[in-house]
Amino acid sequence: MLESSHQNLAMVTCTAPVNIAVVKYWGKRNEDLILPINSSLSVTLHQEQLKTTTTIACSRSFQQDRIWLNGKEEDISCPRLQSCLQEIRRLARKRRNTGDPTSDISVVSHKVHICSVNNFPTAAGLASSAAGYACLVYTLSQLFGVEGELSTVARQGSGSACRSLYGGFVQWKMGERSDGKDSIAEQVESESYWPELRVLILVVSAEQKSVGSTSGMHTSVETSQLLKYRADVVVPCRMVEMIRVIRQRDFPAFGELTMKDSNQFHATCLDTYPPIFYLNNVSHRIISLVHRYNQFYGETRVAYTFDAGPNAVIYTLQEHVPEFVQVVRHFFPSEANGSEFVRGLPVCSADLSEELKRALNMEPTPKGIHYIISTKAGPGPCVVEDPNHHLLGVDGLPKKNAVSD
Ligand code: DP6
Repeated sequence: MLESSHQNLAMVTCTAPVNIAVVKYWGKRNEDLILPINSSLSVTLHQEQLKTTTTIACSRSFQQDRIWLNGKEEDISCPRLQSCLQEIRRLARKRRNTGDPTSDISVVSHKVHICSVNNFPTAAGLASSAAGYACLVYTLSQLFGVEGELSTVARQGSGSACRSLYGGFVQWKMGERSDGKDSIAEQVESESYWPELRVLILVVSAEQKSVGSTSGMHTSVETSQLLKYRADVVVPCRMVEMIRVIRQRDFPAFGELTMKDSNQFHATCLDTYPPIFYLNNVSHRIISLVHRYNQFYGETRVAYTFDAGPNAVIYTLQEHVPEFVQVVRHFFPSEANGSEFVRGLPVCSADLSEELKRALNMEPTPKGIHYIISTKAGPGPCVVEDPNHHLLGVDGLPKKNAVSD
């Protein structure tokens, strides 16, 4: 923490990861506290490829709480931001009242300046609210010296954010209590548990902006009978099964469950009235390609999952990455050269056999996929120690060209 005595300025910078669910969260039983109708499970992605960086400063001289997101000042009165701020300040005061001698309480009464950036383009349509709220809550907790259960706070920013507080494989237990105290995220296994697992994000060109997840899931809860069946009957068994196959590192079983869960989530969207469509033609073609590829080999080597948009996230094992990436290049030819098309973890080149190309039997879709981000499971939020990486200057305002590396 940077402390500048004359200004009474304290400052902390942290980073937090994105997560991609393999058992999806869709639907709330309490919209204010963000309590879900089912438990969910996700893989935290590596921050080298996708992360949010947040700097928070507090000072006696600040007049009001302020926030800058990706270089632009935003409205701090947003109810979800306010919930997170109030909740962390409450926990910090509680800590003082319980007599923790290490807690410096003066800062809690000060206003904060928050500056946050993503190292991935917002235009890519990758859900950034999970990493964003996880980073906000984690950084606030570091600044105010709050320890312990933070997932109940991050959850109130965005449901899926609670899972970004841990690395590796993470479950969000839905809980039963009406106050939400037992609706928490927990690590199932760490990021090093299944080192061969790889993640490819296929960034698909979207023609129009889709319905946001908050309003989409609201309509689904109101109108979809299938969603009720999913939450009551399907997901409880699927959570147990998913945890088992992860612990056994059983890729075929993990892949099949992941695809089935994505498909059922999108089926509940179609069962919503009026229906919601998140997948487009390119998404449908990716689904066919994955099934034909697995069929060719007679086993599940690659699995897709889709959130509230057309981008595909592919889970596979390291040994299959070069060939599958070549399959994607072949069927979704792009104008970008090799390095621009595949970003992130390096991918070796591979040749496709004529037999495989014939078996996949698909017309190429030029420019259907913008680019691929190649990544893997990674750790939870981290504190950035180097003060050169603070996004705010000693004046408490965003540094010029504050960007995340
Ligand atoms: C499809 O967490 O973005 O990505 O709680 O309303 O902020 P709010 O929704 P959000 O929903 C994520 C939905 C999903 C599935 C998932 O991540 O589990």
